[in-house]
Amino acid sequence: MKTRSPASATALVGLQFGDEGKGKLVDWFAEQFGLIIRYNGGANAGHTVQNALGTFKLHLVPSGIFTNGAQCFLGNGAVVDPEQLVLELGALREAGIDTRGFFLSSKAHLVMPWHKVEDVLFDKARGKDAIGTTGRGIGPCYVDKVNRCGIRVGTLLDQRMLRERVHVAYTTKVHALRRQFPTVDFTIPKEDAIIAQLQKSTETLGEYIANTDVLARIAWKNGTRILLEAAQATMIDLEFGTYPYVTSSLATSAGACSGSGLPPTAIESVVGVAKAYTTRVGNGPFPTELFDESGETLRAAGQEFGTTTGRPRRCGWFDAPLVRYACNVNGADKVFLTKLDVLSALPSLRICVAYDFRGEIRIAPPGPQEPYEEFTPVYEDLPGWHTPIAGVTSWDALPDAAKRYVDRIEEMIGVPVATVATGPAREHIIVR
Ligand code: GDP
Ligand code: IMO
Ligand code: MG
Repeated sequence: MKTRSPASATALVGLQFGDEGKGKLVDWFAEQFGLIIRYNGGANAGHTVQNALGTFKLHLVPSGIFTNGAQCFLGNGAVVDPEQLVLELGALREAGIDTRGFFLSSKAHLVMPWHKVEDVLFDKARGKDAIGTTGRGIGPCYVDKVNRCGIRVGTLLDQRMLRERVHVAYTTKVHALRRQFPTVDFTIPKEDAIIAQLQKSTETLGEYIANTDVLARIAWKNGTRILLEAAQATMIDLEFGTYPYVTSSLATSAGACSGSGLPPTAIESVVGVAKAYTTRVGNGPFPTELFDESGETLRAAGQEFGTTTGRPRRCGWFDAPLVRYACNVNGADKVFLTKLDVLSALPSLRICVAYDFRGEIRIAPPGPQEPYEEFTPVYEDLPGWHTPIAGVTSWDALPDAAKRYVDRIEEMIGVPVATVATGPAREHIIVR
């Protein structure tokens, strides 16, 4: 009779609309793990890490790469722009970071040049309903994956297969795009140039390509502690987010299994990361969005500009029903709260505790048949703390008003807030 390996993996997920500070927390948390696997998304992600080695903006490489001795996989659930990955690995090596522990799943899908063109043209064609994508080719790449005509990373290792697959995809795609957008002047490199570029990328990437899902299961069976790093977040998750204003991958803890190859029985714990307020990049519902000076203050104090696209992030109050929903979807057993220091900039604070929908009080986000625009936040006012707390590392050193704010969030979301971050660097963290 086979005995079951103990669950030893932790999934770390975003609980809002992305950019909660997942990168910072993975970097801090990774020391407790032997393997870190980024399991979804592509170069639409921008994970910022600030530690003794420098400040890094990672798009594809897991944020655990700075941890000595740990292995880092980019899993099968991710989509990979090979040129971007080559650049990112090169920049890391140039900064003196050891990338030998990095491996790339042969089953992950390649973002091809036409995906980026499709992304931009399709989103523009939506007119006023545009999603505001990052333009990194993510949606179209996942569409081809689901439509069973994508090209996987492992294909790079077989020249004949690569030429065949690129030829079929190129012919289909370029003709379809020219038919669909006859008056638009877009450029996709010639087929031979695309193959040459892929071959060039393979010179660097070849040694990193592996069956990471098999390796992950072996590591799990051998007792390695594994951290599963999400890109994006629950409210822009394909299944549970504010569809259609979502990304095209599975960003929740459920996606951590399908995107890494670990079975659900391997997952021991789920950590949700939430900002002490709310931000969103791109279009779509945002009930607690601020259009006044407070929003501007949050953007300036929190440096709320997209890591990947540089776009200003929309800012608003903390939305407790939304984060509670996200905790439930993910099965989060603890929450890491970030950017509490940013709220020092505001004299008084608000938390959304419920919504008013046509005179009815609702404590959960709307279903697809109910318009988000009619969900008006019901707020609870809380005092600010009128003093900087950036860099504070002990709970006791926080002003009472800051403690009360965190305690109130904890009560409303129903999940313990295990850590509170007070700055972008690895050491700017309070463990409660
Ligand atoms: P991610 O996509 O979830 O990894 O988050 P991003 O890196 O896109 O955005 C989070 C931003 O907030 C980055 O610039 C981080 O350096 C920064 N950050 C993270 N935690 C804190 C914090 O507690 N306080 C402050 N002031 N900045 C933080
Ligand atoms: P991290 O991992 C914030 C948003 C885009 C757009 C929508 C769809 O850094 O938290 P896409 O290019 O994915 O098709 O765009 O999703 N988006 C993000 N917003 N953080 C991210 O990643 C995001 N990745 C995608 O702005 O609204
Ligand atoms: Mg980000």
